[in-house]
Amino acid sequence: MTRVFSGVKPTGHLTLGNYLGAVRRWAEVDQHRTDALFCVVDLHALTVDHDPARVRRLSRQAATLLLASGLDPELCTVFVQSHVDEHARLSYLLECVATDGEARRMIQYKEKAARERERGGSVRLSLLTYPVLMAADILAYGADEVPVGDDQTQHVELTRDLAVRFNQRYGQTFVVPRATPPKVGARVMNLQDPTSKMGKTDDVGPGIVYLLDEPDVVRKKVMRAVTDSGRDVVYDREERPGLANLLEILAACTGGAPEDLSGVYESYGALKKDTAEAVVEVLRPVQEKHKELCADPSYVEGVLRLGAEKAREMARPRVDEAYRAIGLLAG
Ligand code: TYM
Repeated sequence: MTRVFSGVKPTGHLTLGNYLGAVRRWAEVDQHRTDALFCVVDLHALTVDHDPARVRRLSRQAATLLLASGLDPELCTVFVQSHVDEHARLSYLLECVATDGEARRMIQYKEKAARERERGGSVRLSLLTYPVLMAADILAYGADEVPVGDDQTQHVELTRDLAVRFNQRYGQTFVVPRATPPKVGARVMNLQDPTSKMGKTDDVGPGIVYLLDEPDVVRKKVMRAVTDSGRDVVYDREERPGLANLLEILAACTGGAPEDLSGVYESYGALKKDTAEAVVEVLRPVQEKHKELCADPSYVEGVLRLGAEKAREMARPRVDEAYRAIGLLAG
C-alpha cells in the first residue's frame, strides 16, 4: 500500500493556505486510499525565535485542527514529531550525507535567514539543517508520497537526493519519495500582497485567513483583498496576481478550475462576495468540529499518544537499519 507522510509546523495559527494546499486533501483523499501519517512537526518550530508556552499551545491547537479537518485516527496516524525520537536520530545521519552547500541553496532558508538578519537577529543553525530534519521525517517512514503545497517541493527534492545518495553509498535503505501538490490551491497568496505566499507567521495579518477566523472576519479580509485597476475578471497569474489568487481560492473551495471562472464574473465585488462565502462554508464544519474537540482535550491527547506509539513502531526498524548501514555498531 502506498505510504504517505506530511506535516504542519506549529509556528502560528493554521491558515487557509495550509488547508487548501495540504490538510483538506489529507482528510478527503490521502487517508482513504493510502497508509498515511500526519504529524505536528514541533521540532521545526524551534528553528526560529520562539516562546515555549506558545509552541506548546500551537502544537495542541494544530493537532486539534487536523482532527477537526477530518483526519480520522481509525484511518491514519496522527502524532507529534518530538514524541518519536527516530526523527532526530535519523536527521543526524542525513546531515552526514547532505552538504552545507545544498542546505544553503534552499529558498526558504535564504528568505528566512535574510529576514532574520535584517531584523538584526541571529540565524539558528537548526534553520539551516531544517530541510534535513524534514527529509528524516519522510524517509523514516518509507513514504512514497508527500502531499504538500508548492513551497515545500524544493525540500522534497532534497529529500529525494539524500535518499538516492544514501542508498548508493550504504546500500538500499530508503524509499525515494515524491511531492504531490494539489492541482488547485498549491500556492494560496496573501490577500494584501498577492505576490507573496499566505504564511502563518507573516506580518501582513489582514491578508491571511486563519482557519479559526469568525465568518465576518473572513468576509472582511476577502472583501478587502488587493486586486488591480483592471475591470474584467480574467485569470492571469502573471499580470493579475490578486485576481488570480481570488479565482484560485474560489475554485479550490468549490472544486472547480480557476480557468473556468475566467469571464464568469462581471465585477470584482461579485467575485469577492462569492469567494468570501465559499471560504466561510469550507471553514464552517472545521470550526464546529474544533469547538467540539476543544471540549474534550483528553480525546486529542489519547489520539496523539496512540499515534506516537504506532509511528515509533513504523520508524524504528528503518532507522536502526540506516544506523547499521552507515557503519555504526549495533547496540
Ligand atoms: P508548513 O507548516 O509551513 O505548512 C503545512 C502545509 O501547508 C502548505 N502550505 C500552503 N499551501 C498552499 N498555499 C499556502 N499559502 C501554503 N502555506 C503552507 C505547505 O506546503 C505544507 O504542505 N516544512 C513543512 C512541514 C514539514 C513537513 C515535513 C511536510 C516538516 N516535515 C515532512 C511534509 C513532510 C512546513 O513548514 O509546512
